[in-house]
Amino acid sequence: MAERDSGLSAAADHAARFLRTLDERPVAARADATAIRDVLGGTLPDEGLDPEAVLDALATGAEPGIVASAGPRHFGFVIGGTLPAALAADWLVSAWDQCAAFHSLSPAAAAIEEIAAEWILDLLGLPAGASVGFVTGGQGANTTALAAARHAVLERAGWDVESDGLAGAPRVRVVCGEQAHATIYTALRLLGLGAQTAIRVQADGQGRMDPAALRETLAGLDGPMIVCVQAGNVATGAFDAFEPIADACAAHRAWLHVDGAFGLWAAAAPSTRALLQGAERADSWAVDAHKWLNVPYDSAMAIVADADAHRAAMSLAASYLVADAGERDSTNYVPESSRRARAVPVYAALRSLGRSGLAELVERNCAHARRMAAHLAEIPGGEILNEVVLNQVLVRLPGGDDANRAAIEAVQREGTCWLGGTQWEGHTVMRVSFSNWSTSDADVDRSAAAIAAAVA
Ligand SMILES: Cc1ncc(COP(=O)(O)O)c(C=O)c1O
Repeated sequence: MAERDSGLSAAADHAARFLRTLDERPVAARADATAIRDVLGGTLPDEGLDPEAVLDALATGAEPGIVASAGPRHFGFVIGGTLPAALAADWLVSAWDQCAAFHSLSPAAAAIEEIAAEWILDLLGLPAGASVGFVTGGQGANTTALAAARHAVLERAGWDVESDGLAGAPRVRVVCGEQAHATIYTALRLLGLGAQTAIRVQADGQGRMDPAALRETLAGLDGPMIVCVQAGNVATGAFDAFEPIADACAAHRAWLHVDGAFGLWAAAAPSTRALLQGAERADSWAVDAHKWLNVPYDSAMAIVADADAHRAAMSLAASYLVADAGERDSTNYVPESSRRARAVPVYAALRSLGRSGLAELVERNCAHARRMAAHLAEIPGGEILNEVVLNQVLVRLPGGDDANRAAIEAVQREGTCWLGGTQWEGHTVMRVSFSNWSTSDADVDRSAAAIAAAVA
């Protein structure tokens, strides 16, 4: 029988080689999935292969299709890298192979979740009694938090949605900002609340919900209500005005949910904390760890002020399950039953950064955004479209939509950096996003030069 640890050295060697080249390899992949399938695919052979040979073939075959999204110059979407301690801890998670559903299956995983949860609530300035579920991403966090919202607003209306479903239930009205992230609508679909029926409140030129329009909207509604707002618009980085929005929600007993996939981390840094003023008054929050906290995919937190509502929406019960009284059964905070010990890399990231390291990481990436905006503003005919309040830069390059699209594709092909486009006020524009711990000023300068060259 093969040794239990065979293959680990090969994996470590391949990983180390990859990480050593990460800063300098072209950011885009050099092969598409068809090419990778041609190398790694075919009929599954009858005979097995020893772990080392599997690892060698896998790493070599996948190599041209790997995107350097963990590296310092991937500025597309909102992509974090992986802090060394978080990466190493993630390897331990696989070696330990804990089923982090129940305390009885892993007291260590339960304890580490509790510690990471406490630290996160403290760092983000959220109520100490809130409950935290460690989910797969912003999508999972929004869905979990909105499931708790659905429970709570219907319970207040005398309806038990977990037992009786939505057929015949009082109608839940969901109100979102015009610029709510797509994952909010997917969550509404999954929860039977309806994506198309959500009421969209107008936003300003930065994508911020208009609080007066929200007040007016809520005044015209009655019955159970959920309001979804944003900390960190995916294009501009803008924050909704939480104080007046929380006032309006309180006046109408509406559940307030904050999608803060990346923006909620602004609370951890002194210079950006004020952007979140009033966000602590919400009922639930979604925040990713695989973005700005720089832990490996997939990792995020669903946070709910009313822990009972969170558990009511998510809890799992079956006669054979061993519940240890007074201990954390993590499955009661997430949609999954069996799952990996996802909080371990979160713990490692927080412990390795410390409070000051996290603040510095957030502030450094925000400074990168300002530096990039200053460079791009110098391109003749280029226009910075957003107030650069956080880590996002939205720029319209000279020429029309076709010229902007062509420039984005040229930058992606050239390989110094990678960034994407978006539609903003009817036009194709370029968006540049910073959330990687390893990005330096020199990376920003090099990338700005590559963008300027693509325009020229
Ligand atoms: C505001 C916002 N919400 C939700 C998401 C979705 O997060 P995930 O891709 O982790 O599901 C994103 C991703 O960029 C986001 O920016």
